[in-house]
Amino acid sequence: MENMKFKNKVAIITGAASGMGQLAAQNFVEAGGFAVLTDVNGDAVTAAADALNEQGHQAIGVQADVRVYDEVKQVADEALQKFGRIDVLMNFAGGAETRMMNCHKPFHELPVEVVDWGLDVNLKGAVYFCHAVMGQMIKQKSGVLLNLGSVSGVEGSSGAVNYSAAKSGIIGLTKALAHAGAPHGVRACCVSPGPVLTRPGMANMKTRLGRAAEPQEVVDLILYLCSDQAAFITGTNYLIDGGRSCGGMD
Ligand SMILES: NC(=O)c1ccc[n+]([C@@H]2O[C@H](COP(=O)([O-])OP(=O)(O)OC[C@H]3O[C@@H](n4cnc5c(N)ncnc54)[C@H](O)[C@@H]3O)[C@@H](O)[C@H]2O)c1
Repeated sequence: MENMKFKNKVAIITGAASGMGQLAAQNFVEAGGFAVLTDVNGDAVTAAADALNEQGHQAIGVQADVRVYDEVKQVADEALQKFGRIDVLMNFAGGAETRMMNCHKPFHELPVEVVDWGLDVNLKGAVYFCHAVMGQMIKQKSGVLLNLGSVSGVEGSSGAVNYSAAKSGIIGLTKALAHAGAPHGVRACCVSPGPVLTRPGMANMKTRLGRAAEPQEVVDLILYLCSDQAAFITGTNYLIDGGRSCGGMD
């Protein structure tokens, strides 16, 4: 990060109140960028942005639910008002509906609200944010749309069926946006992690390498893809899963 590879670049980072989104925001400003942190958890995202400003960086925190287009559009508008451009979008907001809504039932017994949450937060939210920023990126003739998939979107998970469907859809979304963005200098990439230690429970998910990822390992890949070093990469889904998707794991 010491080479200031995001000097004067502006990123919108969803799900930035915690986990990998918050870490990516920290790394992005440390590399010279300006960050717009957004999350449905307004107090936490404001606190995360305040902490970056106290360190001498430039960041704002904006509360938004990724399922509500007007709120998503408001984040893009505030980013433009404050920083004048949008260079990078990182779509971290998401999670398995059964965990996030504390409803650990088989798929066919899930209330429809839980089904909707899994699809809407994990897929529609990313679609909304890409839609809200892409026009500005096309105007600038540059930009990067970075979407979070999951190994569950590649191999499926019986405990998170809607999440798996949504994360699989994220790969298609990324490819389609790569097609749409390429003539305008806009790239789209997807990163699909296996277990990541943003919470201790992820250590229980098996991988070939016998461990879960540190959040920094995943964020390093994401920030590489968002940087000019990755200028020839678009439309690709990168699995970072300790070999889990090779098969043969429980
Ligand atoms: N941690 C893992 O093992 C793992 C594995 C594969 C993929 N991922 C994906 O990586 C991303 C980040 O994971 P993490 O572990 O850092 O998650 P996390 O739970 O720490 O952070 C997710 C953030 O999303 C926010 N969020 C939830 N619903 C929202 C909504 N409706 N609108 C706006 N924000 C909302 C939460 O408030 C939270 O701050 C997610 O998309 C997740 O699916 C994580």
